[in-house]
Amino acid sequence: MANLGFTHRFEPREFASRTLLLLHGTGGDENDLLELGRALDSQAALLSPRGKVLEGNAPRFFRRLAEGVFDEEDVVARAGELSSFIDAASAEYKFPIQNLTAVGYSNGANIAAAMLLLGVAKFRSAVLFRAMLPLSRIDVPSLTGYRILMLNCSFDPIIPLPNAQRLGQIFQSAGAQVELRIQPSGHELTTADVEAAREWLRSQRVE
Ligand code: MLT
Repeated sequence: MANLGFTHRFEPREFASRTLLLLHGTGGDENDLLELGRALDSQAALLSPRGKVLEGNAPRFFRRLAEGVFDEEDVVARAGELSSFIDAASAEYKFPIQNLTAVGYSNGANIAAAMLLLGVAKFRSAVLFRAMLPLSRIDVPSLTGYRILMLNCSFDPIIPLPNAQRLGQIFQSAGAQVELRIQPSGHELTTADVEAAREWLRSQRVE
């Protein structure tokens, strides 16, 4: 498998309904969310890169200075890098980029959010599990036509709910169709998250 700038996995699917771009959380890797991807849409091809930033031994998609405090210059650079990887992967594996949906968890959701806010997202729809606002100074592009499901929690010790709500409002003000669901759980994914995301993806499917 060619590297294309990121260690990654690509799982093709014959007559794929879509391609899911799987973006893991801190300490995850390219294998982490494959099972989740299959559970969310068994008909989807899966593209799963490993974040290139190391915090100790833990891969991430961008550098942070402390928990919830991000190196924003790095966020911008890494968002661009990941965007180029998606183009390269689409050419290499011949999946249509217009059918790409991002599925990110925690740090992976944050890089997906950054790509949307910076106008470099190649995906038009996204499922963001436990996302927060990754950038403070942003001139958000139009996100009309983009569809975003955010799944956040009232008892998340890492992501303050008002922060996630603000991200949702920014997406919405930019024209995206946003659904923010707040679950009565914590930072870890639950079966309720998986079920909600699966239903949402099903409702978005273009046959
Ligand atoms: C981040 O660093 O992106 C967020 O704090 C979530 C995390 O990865 O812990």
